[in-house]
Amino acid sequence: MSDYLDRIGSGLILLDPGPLDFDFIPETMVGRREIQSNLAAKFHSISHPNSSANVVITGPVGSGKTLLARTFCRDIEHHLRNKRQIRSVHINCRNATTNVRVAQRIVQTLDAGHPDRGLSMGELLNSLRRLLRSNDRHLIIVLDEVDHLLRKSGNDLIYQLLRIDEDQEGSGTISLILISQEQVLDVLENAVISRFGHTNHLPIPSYDYDGLLAITRQRAEAALNPQSWTEEILKLIATSAAPSGDARQVIELLNGAVEHAESDGRSMLEPEHVQTRAKAIPQVMPEDVLDELTGHPMLVLLGICRRLRKTEFMTSKDVESMYTVVCEEYEVKPRSHTTVWKYLKIIEGLSIIDTRVDTVGDGRGRTTHISMPHALPMDVAARIEGRVVKKLNR
Ligand SMILES: Nc1ncnc2c1ncn2[C@@H]1O[C@H](COP(=O)(O)OP(=O)(O)O)[C@@H](O)[C@H]1O
Ligand SMILES: [Mg+2]
Repeated sequence: MSDYLDRIGSGLILLDPGPLDFDFIPETMVGRREIQSNLAAKFHSISHPNSSANVVITGPVGSGKTLLARTFCRDIEHHLRNKRQIRSVHINCRNATTNVRVAQRIVQTLDAGHPDRGLSMGELLNSLRRLLRSNDRHLIIVLDEVDHLLRKSGNDLIYQLLRIDEDQEGSGTISLILISQEQVLDVLENAVISRFGHTNHLPIPSYDYDGLLAITRQRAEAALNPQSWTEEILKLIATSAAPSGDARQVIELLNGAVEHAESDGRSMLEPEHVQTRAKAIPQVMPEDVLDELTGHPMLVLLGICRRLRKTEFMTSKDVESMYTVVCEEYEVKPRSHTTVWKYLKIIEGLSIIDTRVDTVGDGRGRTTHISMPHALPMDVAARIEGRVVKKLNR
């Protein structure tokens, strides 16, 4: 009766799904030795009491920024366990966009029972001082995707954190790591930059083919039956993802290939399993094409991306409603219906989207179906989010 389930959990290919999860933290970060050393160098004095460091990490989507910070914090805590008690907290500012929310999260990692309501920023910072100093602990605070916080709430929290020891009762209480896709230093105020200093900026590049291949191999070795894959398959996956240089893509391709092969009842990954997935990841849109767009057309495109993350096609009416929501988010007044239509044509002209017009009913109604066959809407959205504010302010 349930023989249709036979292939699930057969273990022909997949031995452990964990390493194919985006949030999985591997034992080692592959191929990033030099960057890891550069980051460590900025923390060279951290083993000494009263010392701290502040670093800004920037780089494109899937270049390993989050993993770099997570593995660094994990490893340094362990490495210095007999010298200095180091704790770390990693906050994704996409999910916590107000200063108070972020401050609450920081305090709660040190004291899970800390009340989470009604406390002012000043009170939270006092709690933070008390919790750290009374236990003689050092805290590394990682603010990931910090551009979200900066856009919504400015840099007040960062500024306050940098000044945490100005009461003279402690020093080197916390370190800060800020992560963003874009050059956030440009949007930070001078008061903050002067404390970070441009020398504490660590830019990281996207992965090349070899880097992607190494990551694919690490995941295959950790997750799959060794008999189920060949070097050729890994190469195919790395080649498919190379135009984007996004490590997330190789993991996704590998995962997709496994899914496909297992549902076919196969015990080996074959090129066809990868290729069908690769087809689903469209040919990559050139990086600089977005530069052609000014602020509002970018917001129109951002709205389109958000909808196309969930569906294959959308109508021009959907475009307008998504655009209105995006305008609210960025606190700007939406442009008129005709202007939005003009923007849509510009975006289409740049081949970022495809449109297909269908005649409905008796031929009098026409509906435009919009799709994005040459790029992943999620990636395009991330790229827009990183730069649209600057465009709007121009
Ligand atoms: N050097 C690496 N070694 C192993 N896995 C990696 C490496 N770089 C990235 N990854 C994996 O690729 C995915 C994307 O990396 P992530 O750190 O989230 O990128 P970013 O934060 O820059 O967008 C994650 O699942 C991560 O674990
Ligand atoms: Mg990240």
